Amino acid sequence: MAHEDARDGARQGQKVSLTGIKPTGEPHLGNYIGAIRPALEMASSYESIYFIADYHALTSVRDRASLAGWTRSVGATWVALGLDPKQTIFYRQSDVPEIFELTWVLSCVTGKGLMNRAHAYKAARDRNAEAGIADLDAGINMGLFNYPVLMAVDILIMNADVVPVGQDQVQHLEIAADVAGSFNHLFGDVYALKIPEAVTPPGDTGRVLPGLDGRKMSKSYGNTIPLFAPEARLRKLVRSIKSDSTPVEEPKAPDTSAAFQLYENFATPGDVADMRRRLEAGGTGWGELKNALFEAINTRLTPLRERYEELMVPGSELDTILADGAEQARDRARPVLAGVRRAIGIDAL
Ligand code: ADP
Ligand code: TRP
Repeated sequence: MAHEDARDGARQGQKVSLTGIKPTGEPHLGNYIGAIRPALEMASSYESIYFIADYHALTSVRDRASLAGWTRSVGATWVALGLDPKQTIFYRQSDVPEIFELTWVLSCVTGKGLMNRAHAYKAARDRNAEAGIADLDAGINMGLFNYPVLMAVDILIMNADVVPVGQDQVQHLEIAADVAGSFNHLFGDVYALKIPEAVTPPGDTGRVLPGLDGRKMSKSYGNTIPLFAPEARLRKLVRSIKSDSTPVEEPKAPDTSAAFQLYENFATPGDVADMRRRLEAGGTGWGELKNALFEAINTRLTPLRERYEELMVPGSELDTILADGAEQARDRARPVLAGVRRAIGIDAL
């Protein structure tokens, strides 16, 4: 394919950026700020490989229509926000069977203790403890427990150098580096995996974005503002962001406000500074901030909504992009898996 040759030629020696989002709900503003926006910015200076982590979603999604719909929604979101399939390899994890073979191999060099310490697993046990359930592993499936190994493989099989993610994923990247290190220690004389690094958004934007209730915006908390919510729903959601009851005329502390943190990520620096001054001076209510926030988000996303809706239709261009991306992803995965198989003795007879 012509564009493939062009990409290979242009990309010689470039580092590889890779990231994925799991389709456990509609992609939201936190996904955009924490992962999609930085990843798209990196696509011009890195070789970029982005994917939909659909098998990761299976640890929690039990409804097939939801899994299919959210997978499409994550795909359509990336493309509507500007992912260029000529520049970026874009695919569904489930289309790359090599990932699942390598997951078994790397599970066999990963200490169980490392998985015991993973945040998501520990959080699930803590929830059981709080609910007074005696068996702390109740309701926890092996997929959730092994999740970090599968994620390590997503990264290692593509030889990624850097992984743009929100701060909540940094531990997973440390685990991926650990898993690669264990493999290399045992088998690196024949084949070594590349050790990846997390890249989180710098400064204030590196903070995890809050959701409607002030906790981390997350599909698992049901407190998100979906990126492509229709305008009326977007307005309603923004109005429902939790705020304190400081009266309009009193001075306010902008940094305590979830709406203000969102505003900082969507408005221009000048508008942000102006809003900060007005809130601190008193006389500006949270309602006014939320109206400005709605306008800032809506202005940014309205031109892209139509493209998103087009891509959401089954059989749209998204399907071709993902089919093409799957082939390219498998072409990259095969030699890594072959090296691993040789190194462990499966293909070394
Ligand atoms: P969720 O928590 O909603 O299920 P994912 O775990 O699928 O989101 O996250 C996909 C990407 O978006 C990850 O890189 C993650 O760090 C980033 N991300 C998710 N929520 C936020 C947030 N509230 N603020 C910043 N980044 C986020
Ligand atoms: N665990 C990530 C999340 O919940 C999603 C993910 C799966 C991922 N595989 C990945 C992110 C590989 C980066 C690289 O957000």
